[in-house]
Amino acid sequence: KKKAFIFDLDGVIVDTAKYHFLAWQKIAAQLGIDFTHEHNEQLKGVSRIRSLEIILAIGNITITQEEKDNLLLKKNEDYLTYIDKMDESEILDGVMQVLHYLKQNNQPIALGSASKNARPILEKVKILSYFDAIVDGNDVTNAKPDPEVFVQAAKKLNMPSEGAIVFEDSVAGVQAANAAQMVSVGIGEKAVLHEAHYNFNNFTEIDTTFLQNLVNK
Ligand code: BG6
Ligand code: MG
Repeated sequence: KKKAFIFDLDGVIVDTAKYHFLAWQKIAAQLGIDFTHEHNEQLKGVSRIRSLEIILAIGNITITQEEKDNLLLKKNEDYLTYIDKMDESEILDGVMQVLHYLKQNNQPIALGSASKNARPILEKVKILSYFDAIVDGNDVTNAKPDPEVFVQAAKKLNMPSEGAIVFEDSVAGVQAANAAQMVSVGIGEKAVLHEAHYNFNNFTEIDTTFLQNLVNK
């Protein structure tokens, strides 16, 4: 039996939130906004443009579309300098074991991410070859919690949405998976991701019995 296994990237495979934070903090500082780690939590799973809009709202600032475009460009240029230094040591604990197990058992694997930098990041941490399909921020028109990214990922794998398994660290991502009739596996705080069908703090808590049960379901 086969099931589509779909992974979010940021916060699930790698902890890139810290790099997004550093890059956004510079932009915020330039706008005279005090951008904190708590604020950064609101940007999890959220698209680049939406992230900027949230930051502008925090500072109660209005700018033109041209200024927005410039800041988005600047933010990403800075973010790319952090990505450039990434390597396989940044893959979060337990992720490789799960990827190995799924590959060994010929389960279809996809990435479903809001990021437009997904491919370069997978290349940097050297796991691009594990993915049979990639759907990222360049492919979708409707951001999470819209199910589009995950529906597209299942389609690319030639698998049904129903019964597909999604690993997510963001509330919007869990909601997107649920809206797609998929099985949502929350990675992170259960109190935050309580809408998920299953919850784990990280991938080291996921064993092969759990994965096999999902396949057989
Ligand atoms: C998501 C992150 O995966 O991708 C968000 O959780 C980020 O924080 C979004 O804003 C877009 O990423 P990028 O790389 O296209 O700016
Ligand atoms: Mg995420």
